[in-house]
Amino acid sequence: MATLKTKARKHLMLFSGRSHPALAEAVAKELGVSLAPTSAYDFANGEIFVRYDESVRGADAFVIQAHTAPINQWIMEQLIMVDALKRASAKRITVVMPFYGYARQDKKHRGREPISARLMADLFKCAGADRLIAVDLHTSQIQGFFDGPVDHLFALPILADYVQSKLDGQPVTVVSPDAGRVRVAERWTDVLGAPLAIIHKRRDPDVPNEVRVFEVVGEVRDRVCIVVDDMIDTGGTIAKAAETLLEQGARDVIVAATHGILSDPATERLAASQISEVIVTDTLPITSTLETLTVLPIAPLLATAIHEVFVDGSVTRLFDPTPDGEEARA
Ligand code: R5P
Repeated sequence: MATLKTKARKHLMLFSGRSHPALAEAVAKELGVSLAPTSAYDFANGEIFVRYDESVRGADAFVIQAHTAPINQWIMEQLIMVDALKRASAKRITVVMPFYGYARQDKKHRGREPISARLMADLFKCAGADRLIAVDLHTSQIQGFFDGPVDHLFALPILADYVQSKLDGQPVTVVSPDAGRVRVAERWTDVLGAPLAIIHKRRDPDVPNEVRVFEVVGEVRDRVCIVVDDMIDTGGTIAKAAETLLEQGARDVIVAATHGILSDPATERLAASQISEVIVTDTLPITSTLETLTVLPIAPLLATAIHEVFVDGSVTRLFDPTPDGEEARA
């Protein structure tokens, strides 16, 4: 049968929203590409306009945006960028959201509540996204909200490498600040070869960001406690966790979290705490002046994932944060 063939080859184009240009530039540098020239501005009433300055027809398009404050504006901008790509005939559109906004609203706790994390997935699908890339989703099940491939990357190796470099043979315990983080904390115990402790915490459902800490399950006395979490928002969870651990005789508290949202009053809270170091990645732009804060680059991980998706390579090894492949077997 006669067929028609073209000489056109697959080409990657990387697009950045306006929320975290430094991260997009770092990813572009890792990939050895330039960001696609884009015009974006706001109308007087707050509506957003986006236009690409060159053709995107046939492109394997990757659209990166950090879901940081003002979060609704930046999510809307990313949706509009995806729509513009779809209407300009990009071949495949991958949404790169290093931090998945609204991920904490992944289930109904009570009647008449939304599942906004699902709505996010639906919005991006409807706009034209073929694929999502995200780092450390609040819960892994969110992958199933999006009807298409989701590459769920882990920052654990980046954070754990750094933490390991700071430990000098002292006894260490990995601490989950709540029941929801136990699975992630278990992966940390595998990597650090340390035992696990869990803090039992209960939220007041009528007061946002209000947390009550109750008790610690596990051995923390005279040990360096590594508290691991997916995000630090107002710092309430982490500050109370540290306070509880020190009351229980912990020698030192170090915090490692992927997403440094650091909404007010996180900086003041963490500065007032006795946490010796707070380690986050730059999935979100960090403006905090916290002296104990260390920010690790996430661009190499994102760039590797984007490259593998583009060349139809394997992203699976990026899903497997443990040395012996526990996640892959789970
Ligand atoms: C809770 O389930 C999350 O994993 C974080 O611990 C929490 O959202 C952090 O919020 P905040 O820093 O305001 O306590």
